Amino acid sequence: MSAAMRTLAFLALIGISSSQTPDCSYLRLLNHLNLPTTNSALSIMRPVKNWTTTTILKLDMWLYGILEVDEKCQTLTSHVWIQMSWPNEFLTWNSSDFCGLDMVTVPRSMLWTPDIVIQEDASDSGSIHKGDYHSLMSSGRVRSNIRQRLTSTCRLNLYRFPFDEQHCNITFTSTTYQEDLLKLETYNNDTVLAKVSEHIMITQGEWQLENIKVTTDPWFHDGENFYKLIYMVKISRKPLLYVVILIIPLFYLLVLDLASFFIHEARGEKLSFKVTVLLSISVLLLILQDMLPSTEDALPMIATFCVSIFTMVGLSVLEAMVVIFLIDFDDFIGKKVQSCDNAHVDTQMDVIQNEPVGAEEKGEVKAEKSYLPLDWPKDGDLLKLILEEVRAARQEVGKQDKVKKKPSYYRKLAEIVDSVFFGIYLLTFLSFLVWMYVNWFRNPN
Ligand SMILES: *[C@@H]1O[C@H](CO)[C@@H](O)[C@H](O)[C@H]1NC(C)=O
Ligand SMILES: *[C@@H]1O[C@H](CO)[C@@H](O)[C@H](O)[C@H]1NC(C)=O
Ligand SMILES: *[C@@H]1O[C@H](CO)[C@@H](O)[C@H](O)[C@H]1NC(C)=O
Ligand SMILES: *[C@@H]1O[C@H](CO)[C@@H](O)[C@H](O)[C@H]1NC(C)=O
Repeated sequence: MSAAMRTLAFLALIGISSSQTPDCSYLRLLNHLNLPTTNSALSIMRPVKNWTTTTILKLDMWLYGILEVDEKCQTLTSHVWIQMSWPNEFLTWNSSDFCGLDMVTVPRSMLWTPDIVIQEDASDSGSIHKGDYHSLMSSGRVRSNIRQRLTSTCRLNLYRFPFDEQHCNITFTSTTYQEDLLKLETYNNDTVLAKVSEHIMITQGEWQLENIKVTTDPWFHDGENFYKLIYMVKISRKPLLYVVILIIPLFYLLVLDLASFFIHEARGEKLSFKVTVLLSISVLLLILQDMLPSTEDALPMIATFCVSIFTMVGLSVLEAMVVIFLIDFDDFIGKKVQSCDNAHVDTQMDVIQNEPVGAEEKGEVKAEKSYLPLDWPKDGDLLKLILEEVRAARQEVGKQDKVKKKPSYYRKLAEIVDSVFFGIYLLTFLSFLVWMYVNWFRNPN
């Protein structure tokens, strides 16, 4: 009996204590906030008790990655994480009344969300992708986290490509709430934003994040005044790949072309070498054309570089043609002169042949030799015959050498043209390099 009483007392005690234990469920909080029974007004109105109160929206954007910069389309594709928070004056509670519960997640559709857009957004899927849930703090702050792939337009200045820096703006603004109703701010200052972005950056491809600056600006539109929060992202290109695949080969080709002036002008060889160099340059030009947009306002420095080299090599091909033509012309004239001279040479040969014969006649040997072809000569005569033939041959060769050695007018002209052009070419090359260095590689700052 006493045992039964004790059990009853125990059960009663449990009942009392359980009724005294506070309900720590989310449900109690949601009921307290009147959320489930829904209050659709909460998702419609800007959550302020006095409509003149300005809602201050804190918006931080972290850059997770620079995925692509499209020079032709002038867009920057990045991976961003946007954190927004704003106060909701109706949804506050004292966390100590709810077992210390100070945060609850609420579907986005149940709460008011500011209509923030990115002005530069060029992605098909439209503006900011909204998350499905908001976090609600006990103080009434609503937090929203968004991660998205953002394609934003950015006016790229490619004048100093590939040693360029780009400044891209990402502008957040509201489309409906004017400046006096919705104000945009950042939670962290820009030093922190840039530092953290640099730290968390997973991929940035060929780009290097230089810094992020944040400014706010009013934006006038149809006589209305909107608030603008601008993230100015400065990125610089890592130029090594372009230096290796474009600039160094072009430079080497130009040096090769310079060196080809030292090839002895063996007709086609020099010319075909130069033409090969010209073709290689045009291949590199094609690669370049794939990369750069055809904006007309400022021709990128690298295009000037390529075209200048192409022109220089082209001119040197022309020059090689002129030199070859001059030499050919000279040979042609020389041949004509030689054929005129040949008769003269033959008569000379006769004289030469006659002279020694005459001398020998004067010496020991007599009439026997003058009729050489008639009968087969004896041993000594054979030697003499050979000697004479060799002498004649030598003299003829000597004559021809003299003809060749004597530089005629056109050959001389060709040589002069060649050396003068080489001098000018070398000077142009050097001044071109200096000009390029000053305008291109050197930092403008
Ligand atoms: C609403 O705010 C305005 C300006 O801050 C103030 O003048 C007005 O008294 C407020 N109204 C109420 C009911 O608090
Ligand atoms: C929350 O409630 C506790 C106890 O009920 C009280 O001491 C505290 O001041 C309250 N805090 C706020 C911000 O009202
Ligand atoms: C970015 O915004 C700043 C501030 O309004 C402006 O001065 C700058 O020209 C903008 N840059 C670009 C590339 O639009
Ligand atoms: C930015 O914030 C950090 C930490 O909050 C602070 O140390 C730093 O001085 C701030 N920089 C500027 C420019 O306000």
